[in-house]
Amino acid sequence: MDNRAIGVFDSGLGGLTAVRQLHRLMPDEHIIYFGDTGRVPYGSRSRRTIVEYTRQDTAFLLSHALKAIVVACGTVSSVALGTVQQEVSVPMVGVVQPACRRAVRETRNRKIGIIGTKGTIQSGSYEAGLHTLDPSVQTIARACPLFVPLVENGRFRIGDRVAEMVVEEYLKEIRDFGVDTLILGCTHYPLLADIIRSYMGEEVHLIDPGAEAAAYTKTFVEPCQPGNGRTEYYVSDDPDSFGQYASMFLGEPKRVQAELIDIASYGTIQKGNKR
Ligand code: DGL
Repeated sequence: MDNRAIGVFDSGLGGLTAVRQLHRLMPDEHIIYFGDTGRVPYGSRSRRTIVEYTRQDTAFLLSHALKAIVVACGTVSSVALGTVQQEVSVPMVGVVQPACRRAVRETRNRKIGIIGTKGTIQSGSYEAGLHTLDPSVQTIARACPLFVPLVENGRFRIGDRVAEMVVEEYLKEIRDFGVDTLILGCTHYPLLADIIRSYMGEEVHLIDPGAEAAAYTKTFVEPCQPGNGRTEYYVSDDPDSFGQYASMFLGEPKRVQAELIDIASYGTIQKGNKR
């Protein structure tokens, strides 16, 4: 048994897609979530800034005793994880590899679509991951920069005409390409899954990278003692708005209470977190 917590972070609400799955698969775990709501979005920022934010997010999480960190952000996983994971001794799980493994397992026609932030799509991380697993897959990728602000503002329900129009504009080319599998390569995007599914068609597999990363985490962490399950939420701005949408998204009857922290004060990664 290992009663240390699992840390999870993202730029905002998106990483809750991983938390929801962790709650389902590992209900006894102590989870510490950080959403960088004061600095969202990450996806349009430079690599240098994303690496700096990732170091601070990681340093904050490592101020707790952790056994693993789930990087529940496609942008960080694509752009900064390779650098920052070398600086810490706790295992860090990104979303790209688990999502690629699932996509290659699901596709039948070998045509896979990838959507993500500008940073993620420019990095080519998902294409590289897919082609390593199966060089014969055909991919089509598109950045969808308006999705994150829509989600952070609660505009993700079916019937929201603005969200539906944006989905149609971004996904038309991918649908016309005939993909049977679509990687929602940013962890915010599964919140738009109902609208995306209704546009793409029920037969298209939608891959939720946060959920895949959570499922992968379960395969290697030593479990907590039963009865330990609880989640702490921290944000860098507007805990009320985060709490409102978080409860709705996680399906928690009680409103999620998030604590405000000063993320910029967490500069240095503490390395002494070895098992
Ligand atoms: N949810 C994140 C991702 O998976 C970040 C979105 C953003 O902040 O731009 O890419």
